[in-house]
Amino acid sequence: MAKEKSNTAKLDFKLEYAAAPESKSSAKINSKYGLFINGKFEKPESKKYFDTINPATEEKIATIAEANQTDVNKAVKAARTAYNNVWSKMPAKERAKYIYRIARMIQERARELAIIETMDGGKPIRESRDIDIPLAANHFFYYAGWADKLQYAFPNKKIAPLGVAGQIIPWNFPLLMAAWKIAPALATGNTVVLKPAETTPLTALKLAEIIQESDLPPGVVNIITGAGATGAAIVNHPDINKIAFTGSTDVGKIIQRAIAGTNKKATLELGGKAANIIFDDAPLDQAVEGVINGIFFNQGHVCCAGSRLFVQESVYNKVLQKLRDRIETLIVGDPLDKNTDIGAINSKQQMDTILKYLKIGEKEGAVMHQSQCSIPKKGYFIRPTLFTNVAQSSRIVQEEIFGPVLTIQTFRTDDEVIEKANNTPYGLSAGVWTDKGSKIFNLTTKMRAGVVWANTFNKFDPTSPFGGYKESGFGREGGLHGLGAYLK
Ligand code: NAI
Ligand code: MG
Repeated sequence: MAKEKSNTAKLDFKLEYAAAPESKSSAKINSKYGLFINGKFEKPESKKYFDTINPATEEKIATIAEANQTDVNKAVKAARTAYNNVWSKMPAKERAKYIYRIARMIQERARELAIIETMDGGKPIRESRDIDIPLAANHFFYYAGWADKLQYAFPNKKIAPLGVAGQIIPWNFPLLMAAWKIAPALATGNTVVLKPAETTPLTALKLAEIIQESDLPPGVVNIITGAGATGAAIVNHPDINKIAFTGSTDVGKIIQRAIAGTNKKATLELGGKAANIIFDDAPLDQAVEGVINGIFFNQGHVCCAGSRLFVQESVYNKVLQKLRDRIETLIVGDPLDKNTDIGAINSKQQMDTILKYLKIGEKEGAVMHQSQCSIPKKGYFIRPTLFTNVAQSSRIVQEEIFGPVLTIQTFRTDDEVIEKANNTPYGLSAGVWTDKGSKIFNLTTKMRAGVVWANTFNKFDPTSPFGGYKESGFGREGGLHGLGAYLK
């Protein structure tokens, strides 16, 4: 075979971008936040507070209330009263107006929300500005539209809301996850007690301010902060009808045990270890971009991240070289800088987890390759990392790392890659890169994953359902399916 010239030209000079930091001045952040219960911010009965920090600077941003059992009781009571007296009685088209108003207000304050999201969680401002916040608004818009059309969504069925929903969300997409959970719950006539993750509570509290300004009847949405114990108090509260959880598979299992034998309904969105598969007929440059986006988007803190790459043997060397060249151009650093591609790891704890996996990988005999870029001295940062020479049984191939770490394996035939890709306890998402439609259909039907992308990756839309199989959880969020999860 004729030797092809690589079309990724070797860079013999380094492109330097002038710093382009987003200004923090439009972000209004209080120094202290209470719990948002019954339409008001209240001091916690626990009298306890914790700090939320900026993981890019390790500086404290604000002090946040830590809700205890008494606080959870108050929030659930407010939600139950609002459900009984107001929300379940309100005509659906009136409910829709509130949801629509919240969507508009998120849009109006998009810039401020994006900056706060980036400061609190470490993700690049480009992502919070262009993805997280617009998608959060879109979820409210989309479900506002459904609120008075539920009978069309479920024809010939007698439908009713469940009641009070307890919602626990993670730190990787804080405002977006709040929108995913709150919008469909409100559209279907439920009331809500939501708890954001302890490292990223700020945009949920900003959303509480928006909800307050929107005049949503008090108690319909309550937002309380705290760590695992607060989450557990919500899960175990007897007056909650539905639990919606996104987070680790370990906590998902605890929740499932806790609600077994009760009448509580649940949707659990848990971890993932998605296969991203490149066939030799794929447009390789596009595929490499998709792989880069699939694993380095949001520092790899993505449940559907394409963390297991499978490359057809005949193009392996080419793809590997392109990946190595491409990661050299990724800018790791200040998340508020508009040039930044990879921001800060969300917390010290998560950084330690990722570093632990890098050690495990090397101990298992895998070959690690990291980009050479400089990283800030302060804050939690990890360079984009590739692992080759891994086996199906390697822990870094089997376990969710939730960081900017890609494992790379090869395959020869369709059947082989299907077998390898499905050999995982998870089943949330997958990606296929090929020029052939028939291959796409063959693979998408045989992949045990809730979402399979073809010639693209990490595409999200409020109209399409999202959710997993096996240890990735059950239930679907988004689209019509997302409504069903809040109705009986
Ligand atoms: P986590 O599952 O502990 O945290 C998620 C949410 O659950 C947070 O709001 C937390 O306060 C709450 N929580 C913790 N313990 C709880 C309990 N017993 N009952 C009710 N709620 C509880 O996730 P963590 O420890 O922050 O991350 C560990 C790993 O989990 C990550 O490395 C990653 O692999 C995975 N993860 C997956 C996510 C996803 O989107 N699928 C999101 C976050 C983490
Ligand atoms: Mg924080």
